[in-house]
Amino acid sequence: MKYLGQEFFIEKIKAKLIAKKFGTPAYCYSYSRLKENIENLQKNFKSFNPLFCFAVKSNTNKYLLNEISKFGFGADVVSMGELIRAISAGISPNKIVFSGVGKTAREIEYAINKKILLINAESKSEILQIEKIAKLKKKTINIGIRLNPNTDAKTLKEISTGKKENKFGVNEKTFLELVDYIKNSKNLNLKCLSAHIGSQILDHKPYLKMLNVLDKVIRKSNHKFEYVDLGGGMGIDYVHNNKKLNLKKYNSYIQKFLKVNSCKIIFEPGRSIIGDTAVLITNITYIKESDKKDFIILDAGMNDLMRPALYKAEHKIIPIVKKKIKSKKIYEFVGPICETTDKFLTIKNYQKLNENDLIVIYDVGAYGMSLSSNYNLRPKPIELLIHNSKIKIINKRQKLSELV
Ligand code: LLP
Repeated sequence: MKYLGQEFFIEKIKAKLIAKKFGTPAYCYSYSRLKENIENLQKNFKSFNPLFCFAVKSNTNKYLLNEISKFGFGADVVSMGELIRAISAGISPNKIVFSGVGKTAREIEYAINKKILLINAESKSEILQIEKIAKLKKKTINIGIRLNPNTDAKTLKEISTGKKENKFGVNEKTFLELVDYIKNSKNLNLKCLSAHIGSQILDHKPYLKMLNVLDKVIRKSNHKFEYVDLGGGMGIDYVHNNKKLNLKKYNSYIQKFLKVNSCKIIFEPGRSIIGDTAVLITNITYIKESDKKDFIILDAGMNDLMRPALYKAEHKIIPIVKKKIKSKKIYEFVGPICETTDKFLTIKNYQKLNENDLIVIYDVGAYGMSLSSNYNLRPKPIELLIHNSKIKIINKRQKLSELV
């Protein structure tokens, strides 16, 4: 994805042509970028051959899940819907882990029937529920316990999960009690310790802290864990200033950890795999001038891309055709939704824009389409996968008739 001359290209295709043919708003994924991201992670951690379970919540597109599975990936799911989707996309159940604080009895039973790799439990009540169902089925179920390591991931507070005030996992004391309880259970087999401290992590130090806590707790538990699941969270460069998570450092911390704790490492990456693979092409419907700023009113809204409204998350916005003339006004990029938070970015010194110009919102592959909704009864956008000069529709634009 880059400019060639004045025109923005996705792989070998002009974004303008994609918009003309398929309309806007349109999610466009680059297959080459996806492949690059996957291979980059695999290469970085290859010395200990981890199991990568793609976090389906970040992107639930069936075609993409199938492509990702071809690289040997499993899945991390958090609902029965995601579990069914992952299996139907061709992901092998014995590579699927099930996380989440509120799995219902029906969801647990379904996961047991499908013989997935691990149910990562997040409370004592959940463990008792799994045991009850396992007993009825006369089975022994492989489970993990999610530890809350009380580690600050130094990311947005809305997407932090590993501090004691967050609802996720259990604290050290409960963890150790649960290990003892499971040791005496005929229907539960404790295979995994899992943790996930948050998302969009760019600083490697929280990972070191987390590993130190895991190391200490494993020692205290006196239990041999076959798997240690480190969750996801690896951040991407949304602001494009080259601030990246130092994967080499993270890798070296894990290698050290493995010297004392021999186990299979599981990762649950979402954003680092899919985040920067996609852009959202959108058209400028109107430009509304006001005293201090101009509102650039797009045909994409917060229902199509929720992250800015939900977390004040920043996504770079660029014009599809570059021009030299600058606007003297401040531009505020907004959607058509009847909400004040329906805005994407406020920016100075932007190139002068006109109504019906096309623009591109960057890095929308993760938690873009998966967080989209039909708010204001707006149909969901089309999803396209681009590879070299080929375009494949991987999810049709929702029809208004399906909604109304
Ligand atoms: N594993 C667990 C247990 C998780 O809760 C999550 C994300 C992941 C893995 C994947 O994390 P990733 O590698 O994608 O950072 N909607 C927010 C992000 C919420 C993340 C929730 N959990 C956003 O748009 O920033």
